[in-house]
Amino acid sequence: MNFTFVQQRGNEVKMAFPSDFVWGVSTSAFQIEGATREGGRGVSVWDTFCATPGKVRNGDNADIACDHYHRFGEDVALMVELGVKAYRFSVAWPRIQPTGQGKVNVEGLDFYDNLVDTLCEAGIAPVTTLYHWDTPQPLEDNGGWLVRDTAERFAEYAQIVGERLGDRVEMWIPLNEPMVETLFGYALGEYAPGRALLFDAMPAAHYQNLAHGLAVSALRATGAKNIGTANNHSPIWPASKDEGDLTAARHLDAVINWMYAEPVLTGSYPDEVIPYLPRSYVDDLPKIAAPLDFYGVNYYEPQGVAKPGEGNPMPFELRPVEGYPLTTNDSPVVPDGLRQFLATLNSRYDLPPVYITESGCSFDGVRDRERIDYHTEHLAALEKAMSEGVDVRGYFVWSLLDNFEWSKGYQPRFGLVHIDYETLARTPKDSFHWYRDVIGGAR
Ligand code: NOJ
Repeated sequence: MNFTFVQQRGNEVKMAFPSDFVWGVSTSAFQIEGATREGGRGVSVWDTFCATPGKVRNGDNADIACDHYHRFGEDVALMVELGVKAYRFSVAWPRIQPTGQGKVNVEGLDFYDNLVDTLCEAGIAPVTTLYHWDTPQPLEDNGGWLVRDTAERFAEYAQIVGERLGDRVEMWIPLNEPMVETLFGYALGEYAPGRALLFDAMPAAHYQNLAHGLAVSALRATGAKNIGTANNHSPIWPASKDEGDLTAARHLDAVINWMYAEPVLTGSYPDEVIPYLPRSYVDDLPKIAAPLDFYGVNYYEPQGVAKPGEGNPMPFELRPVEGYPLTTNDSPVVPDGLRQFLATLNSRYDLPPVYITESGCSFDGVRDRERIDYHTEHLAALEKAMSEGVDVRGYFVWSLLDNFEWSKGYQPRFGLVHIDYETLARTPKDSFHWYRDVIGGAR
């Protein structure tokens, strides 16, 4: 074990992490790459969504974003300066298969091949997500995640990328946060593809779970190693101990957390979600539960919940979590929620090693003391979870760069590195230097 000392609001916080702990940063293709019409890339649902008036704040789009597509060398150099051991990035499906099936766009594969080579030369482990919400538009036109075919197409795509990059990629994550895609993309319509189907969105959860399982097997068949998840999780906080609120909380927990964790870890679904699943779901369970090498958790905040008020047909009513500081994205800062969730996850399942595949916050400015405090406190909560028995092997900060924050456009800034969207200049923030010192001290 090595010890790290972190200045937090003037205090010294002492933390111990194993010397082989993986310190990383995360990004995703659509949020940073830009060059949406270059290199043979096809159109994704997010291009379409951005082009639809009123969907994204300020009418922002990701046509340029951080221009990482052209500047990845500079970004890898920043990571070298930062000292991270691993970099989690996503491959844009429409760069590899512009229509989501069939013919491969070699230029797209070449781009990621170069990125992976550049990372390896820099001694940074490539951690590859295959899907971070940028579905090729033609697949959405055929039903998107509401149909089984998309899961099968995804397995084909996973095989293509696995064959090309599998000799160098050190960790694989088939899908990022299928819960968020289902909830915001298909149930509420706040994210692409903008469908507002409420509970009729649930097949999207199942077919993404199936896509995950099929991709795990497809990747393994290519010889790829070290395959896991990146599921978004929140501890669910009932408004009171009344039976009504507790029942609502159990229901929401099933829909938000266990509907994604349970099938991949145990091959079953929680009872609460079974009524919403496609009829043939049982046959898919063994495929979904293909064995995993790690379980990735993206943690941001807890979710409050109460029993539904009169006339509300939903089984629960969401409540804001109050009494905590807020980020500029209105997320409550609750570090202990990370420890709480990990403890619950660990008590429910026989887990493979866990990684925090995302943890981060939006705050403005380059003198970002709040971000330093945020990560200090989340790392302290993580260390506590580890001392209580959760086998956590790494922590990936969301995000290396300020980037396109989906329907909120460029306003929330999550990066350790500031982006000037006029000049695309990159400026490391105070939190960058802080994280560099943490990583350096932990070596
Ligand atoms: C999780 C998502 O994976 C990522 O794309 C997003 O930017 C962050 N949450 C922050 O909201």
